Amino acid sequence: MADQVLVTLDGVVHDPDAPLLHADDLGAVRGDGVFETVLVRDGAPCTIELHLARLRRSAAALDLPEPDLDDWRIAVGLALDEWGADREGIMRLVLSRGRESGGGPTGYLTVGPVADRVEAARRDGVSVLTLARGYSVDMAATAPWQLLGAKTLSYATNMAALRHAHARGADDVIFTSSEGMVLEGPRSTVLISRGRTLITPPIEHGILPGTTQQALFEVAGAHRFRCEVDALRPADLILADGLWLLSSVTLAARVHTLDGLSLPAPEIADEVSSLVGLAAETVGVELDAA
Ligand SMILES: Cc1ncc(COP(=O)(O)O)c(C=O)c1O
Repeated sequence: MADQVLVTLDGVVHDPDAPLLHADDLGAVRGDGVFETVLVRDGAPCTIELHLARLRRSAAALDLPEPDLDDWRIAVGLALDEWGADREGIMRLVLSRGRESGGGPTGYLTVGPVADRVEAARRDGVSVLTLARGYSVDMAATAPWQLLGAKTLSYATNMAALRHAHARGADDVIFTSSEGMVLEGPRSTVLISRGRTLITPPIEHGILPGTTQQALFEVAGAHRFRCEVDALRPADLILADGLWLLSSVTLAARVHTLDGLSLPAPEIADEVSSLVGLAAETVGVELDAA
């Protein structure tokens, strides 16, 4: 059982405190690469196959060489063995374009402990500010080089939005487009409920396809929920019965306060939170044979 795990894509387990990257790695100097963040529970990587599929799509969007997913599965298995099964962990898969001087992509993965804020967000929910993202819902189609549907390493603006919210006493952020449409959180997908209907905004509006939302929608029908994808405005968030931020690490964080307005918990709050946990633990969890 280790406190931190570091495995490179060639299957070598490294000392996590030893330096790994070259100074000219394009992931470090340009954010030129892709990543995935996966929750490890009971020694298993939640929805890992959904993450590997998104890693491949993100790499394709950046014109990176197609990742060999079997190599990743082997590295994931090695990292899980090192991490153990007695506590949750956060596994991060990183694939950069590699060194500026050449030599091909850099791939590695780490596992570390789950941040304290995660447990609090799952238990108590979060307060959220809506913030302008500064672009239109058209941008994914009109400017594909913005890589909106890809999970790239360039997260500095998302982190800046979170700091902006924290400085104003909020825990998290929901971005809106220049037309005032609801997009996503800096590290989460937006979900609302109306009765037993669960609704999330369309990925065509330039948001990341969330693995947690995808897994939830795969299981929710069998639990008497209807699932819909529909354009949402901030007023829809306020008028909804329930509002959540979904993500691989936090799973479901109920939004209890939006722009200072208190949002009561819906009757289905506990049900949704258990269902998201069930989805994460059961959808796409079998590592395809490597
Ligand atoms: C911008 C953004 N949107 C949505 C999500 C939620 O995706 P997932 O459920 O796969 O974690 C994330 C997760 O990190 C994200 O960074």
